[in-house]
Amino acid sequence: MKMKAAVLREIGAKRPYALSGPVRIEEVELTPPKEGELLVKISGGGLCHSDLSIINGHRARPMPLVLGHEGSGEVVEVGVGVRDIKMGDPIVFQFSASCGVCINCLSGRPQLCETHNVARAKGHLMAGGSRLKDGKGQEIAHQSGVSCFAEYAVIDRGTAVKVDSDLPLADAAIFGCAVMTGVGAVLNTARIRAGDTVACVGLGGVGLNGLLGAKVAGAEKIIAVDISDDKLGLARQLGATHTVNARDTDHVEQILDMTGGGVDYAFEFSGSVAATETCYKSIRMGGEVVIVGLAPNNSLFTFNPADIVNSEKAIRGSYMGSCVPVRDIPRYIELYRQGRLPVDKLINRSISFDEVNDGFDKLSDGLAIRQILEPHRA
Ligand SMILES: NC(=O)c1ccc[n+]([C@@H]2O[C@H](COP(=O)([O-])OP(=O)(O)OC[C@H]3O[C@@H](n4cnc5c(N)ncnc54)[C@H](O)[C@@H]3O)[C@@H](O)[C@H]2O)c1
Ligand SMILES: [Zn+2]
Ligand SMILES: [Zn+2]
Repeated sequence: MKMKAAVLREIGAKRPYALSGPVRIEEVELTPPKEGELLVKISGGGLCHSDLSIINGHRARPMPLVLGHEGSGEVVEVGVGVRDIKMGDPIVFQFSASCGVCINCLSGRPQLCETHNVARAKGHLMAGGSRLKDGKGQEIAHQSGVSCFAEYAVIDRGTAVKVDSDLPLADAAIFGCAVMTGVGAVLNTARIRAGDTVACVGLGGVGLNGLLGAKVAGAEKIIAVDISDDKLGLARQLGATHTVNARDTDHVEQILDMTGGGVDYAFEFSGSVAATETCYKSIRMGGEVVIVGLAPNNSLFTFNPADIVNSEKAIRGSYMGSCVPVRDIPRYIELYRQGRLPVDKLINRSISFDEVNDGFDKLSDGLAIRQILEPHRA
């Protein structure tokens, strides 16, 4: 079938993107779902910094590519062999399908599935190949098996999580990345305990979800850190007990003073080495840095190995919030329903295809948290 999709062909375009237009809306060919796959009509696609990092060249992906990894939609066709999902089911995408048989899947870490990792690097689905072609017959890559900045998507069955959401389905897209990644980093990766002290460094869609997750877990102090005063203001409304502007030269001292020597956990939610340094310097002896943001591919972070030993500090990564999406997305939706994860407050606006480049300008300039592309909107 033919459909409209947001295609990226080149990286590193000049800003503003609203003028240079790196994301083009093209008519592309989508082949039907194969065995074990689904065709989904897209309701919403959230603009995440990870998409922006592909556009600006910070993170490499095969080109050309249909963008989008945070999204939601309705199943409209079911491939052979899929028995547990039917036409009309509302779903949220999760961007790391899992094979169920590799060592990581079998160890309860499906977000690290080895088969999916190989498919993602090629821009393919797990059964092999792409289902997307352009008008000249050239293959177009899938982004993380999702590519939801399009009218439709063909996906692996495992990319879909059935949902029953009180949110409009388009807005439920936010559960697929920002919520799962931010809340999961706190509840699954770090497993913080009630009474712990936490710093959330970087307050975009992912970091503000981390803050909400820390509140759910009963953190005693939640220190919100960003370079934007507007983001700090929003963090206070959402439950931060303290705020610190990372542009202040003494911002680390402020955090150490607030906590009598450092936080138990510092979460890096911005994708910058400067923020990672803030995190590392802000943890107490025995504390832990959890890096969630994806810094540019060529960036490096240095630390003194003896310091890690003497003070038993830890630095660890968190991919997709260490989530088991089929378990965690419905849990987080239930927390939303109870009013404990008010993620609707993180959605600024819905946009149409024409506004995608401008949307990435806004994300880049820190002027929006989550913007939801609604591809069927007139
Ligand atoms: N680990 C994962 O699975 C995963 C999943 C999704 C997104 N990500 C990554 O998470 C990061 C955040 O994504 P997002 O969509 O929330 O981005 P965003 O652009 O909305 O938010 C980033 C925030 O960091 C702030 N910031 C920048 N430099 C800072 C500094 N030195 N100190 C403190 N704050 C600083 C910005 O002002 C902004 O508010 C990105 O790097 C993204 O690629 C990781
Ligand atoms: Zn994302
Ligand atoms: Zn696997």
